[in-house]
Amino acid sequence: MTLAILSALADEQRSLIAQLQQPHQVTHAGRMFWLGTLHGHAVVLALSRIGKVSAAVTASALIEHFGAQRIIFTGVAGGVGPDVRVGDVVVATQFIQHDLDVSPLYPRYEVPLYGQSCFAADTVLGHQLVQATRAALQAMGLAATVHLGLLASGDQFIGSAQASGTLCSDLAAAGHLPLAVEMEGAAVAQVCHDYGVPFAAVRTISDRADDSAHVDFTMFARDVAGRYAEAIIREFLTLLLIT
Ligand code: ADE
Repeated sequence: MTLAILSALADEQRSLIAQLQQPHQVTHAGRMFWLGTLHGHAVVLALSRIGKVSAAVTASALIEHFGAQRIIFTGVAGGVGPDVRVGDVVVATQFIQHDLDVSPLYPRYEVPLYGQSCFAADTVLGHQLVQATRAALQAMGLAATVHLGLLASGDQFIGSAQASGTLCSDLAAAGHLPLAVEMEGAAVAQVCHDYGVPFAAVRTISDRADDSAHVDFTMFARDVAGRYAEAIIREFLTLLLIT
């Protein structure tokens, strides 16, 4: 049962590649994929690339070409929920595209022909990611909070308090309360929905999607994100072995 692990950042993927047993590198669709065994599991590792289209292509390749039967995503996100702080972790229960608007033909945010705005994460994988994240935070000696909820994806880096305020109030007007923003999750969720492949995502909060987001994001991505990803994936794969 091949598990695909999508990373948003090369910094997060590096330590996973270093730990891969029988590593085998394949180039497909202009992307690099790493196959091998990680903590006792057959895995394929890939970078999502940035933005919804790139991530959707990567997810499709993982399923069609590499036979991925489950996909998990590790990355960083900008916290927009009121209590979601830098260093906290969000495990997605649902995904929405905050920049999708085919109104007035369809309600704002609804994906045409699907009759829905949100795609759900797989509950089993999501639960395992929550458990793994709690164990990872404990192992790292961090008192950060694990939040469960809605991730909003779009093809924009949200880098001002004004932009994140507008995004959140527009979503709230349609009944959606996101915890964090990023640029890939909802696209991968839609691909996985179409193929019937279980998908879940964990995002460490690198910034607050405010006026200092670009500075906070850059430092967090460079110095911290890789440690979170490595610890969470280690705990997750260990958990999979015993469940
Ligand atoms: N990923 C991490 N921080 C982000 C932000 N502020 N906007 C979009 N994607 C992000």
